Amino acid sequence: MRRLIFLTAAVLAVLSMPQAMGQTDSVRGDKAVSELMVALQTQHIKLWFAGRLSNWPLATYELNQIESGLQRAAKPGDQHAAQPAAKVQAVRSAVDSRDITAFTKAFGELTNGCNTCHRAEGKSFITIMVPTNSPFTDQLFVDQVAEGRALARSICSNCHVVSDQQTQKPELRFPTPSFPELARSPSFSADSIRELLMSGHRHLGPNQTMPNPRLAAHQIEEIVAYFETLRAEGSR
Ligand code: HEC
Ligand code: HEC
Repeated sequence: MRRLIFLTAAVLAVLSMPQAMGQTDSVRGDKAVSELMVALQTQHIKLWFAGRLSNWPLATYELNQIESGLQRAAKPGDQHAAQPAAKVQAVRSAVDSRDITAFTKAFGELTNGCNTCHRAEGKSFITIMVPTNSPFTDQLFVDQVAEGRALARSICSNCHVVSDQQTQKPELRFPTPSFPELARSPSFSADSIRELLMSGHRHLGPNQTMPNPRLAAHQIEEIVAYFETLRAEGSR
C-alpha cells in the first residue's frame, strides 16, 4: 500500500513537471522571445537603411518599434536590459538631428548592445551585425516624397510654383499651372503625370510648351509621390 502511494506520488510529480517548468511569463517563453527577436532583427535592418539614406521619418518609425520590442524583451530589474535603452536614446538623438555620422556610430553601439544581452542570456551563438545589403527588395528606403520635393524645387520651380510655401515666383516665360493647383484639380491622377513625364517628345503639355525635363524612371516616381502628398494635403 505504501509503495503504491509512493509510486503514484512519483508519477504525479513527473507528470506535473513539464507544466511547472513551462510557467515562465508569456514573453520570456522561448517561442515568444524568439518571435519578438525576429521582429527586432527586421526592424534593426530597416533602421539601418532608413538612416543611411536619410529617410528620417522611417528611421524614427523603426526605432520606436525597436524601443518597445526591447522593453518587452527585458525582465523587470534586469541589469543588461538597461543598456540597450541608453543606446536607443543615442540613436534617437542622431536621428532627430539628422546626423548620419552620429547615426552610424550609435547604430554600431546599439548592435553591440544586442550581442551583450545574447551573451548574458547564454545565447552567445546569436551574433547581430551591421547589415551590408537589404534583403527587403520590395521596399524603398529613401524618402520618396522628400526626394520628389527636392527635385521639384531644383528643376520644376524654374517655371512652376511647386508648393504653397514657395515665396519666390518662378521666372515665367510661359504661363504654367502651379503644382498645388494641379494636384487638387479633379482631373489629376498619378497615371496622367507619369504618362506626361515618361513621354519621349521634346515638348510636353496640351500646348506643347513645356520642354521635356527628361527624368529617370525613379525620379518620375518621386515626382508622382510628391504630387500625391500635395493632393492629400489639399484635401485635409
Ligand atoms: C534583453 C536581452 C536581449 C536583448 C537586448 C536582445 N536580445 Fe535578441 N535574443 C535574446 C534571447 C534571450 C534570445 C533567444 C530566444 C530564444 O530562446 O529563442 C534572442 C534571440 C535573438 C535572435 C534569434 C531569433 C531566432 O529565432 O532566430 C535574433 C535574430 C535576435 N535575438 C536579434 C536581436 C537584435 C537585433 C537585438 C538588438 C536590437 C536583440 N536581439 C537584443 C535576448 C535579447
Ligand atoms: C522651362 C519651364 C518648365 C520647367 C522647367 C518645367 N515645366 Fe512643367 N510646364 C511648363 C509649361 C510652359 C507648361 C504648360 C504646358 C502646356 O500647356 O503646353 C507646363 C505644364 C506642366 C504640367 C501640366 C501638364 C498638363 O497636362 O496640363 C505638369 C504636370 C508639369 N508641367 C510638370 C512639370 C514637372 C514635374 C517639372 C519638373 C520635373 C516641370 N513641369 C518643369 C514649363 C516647365
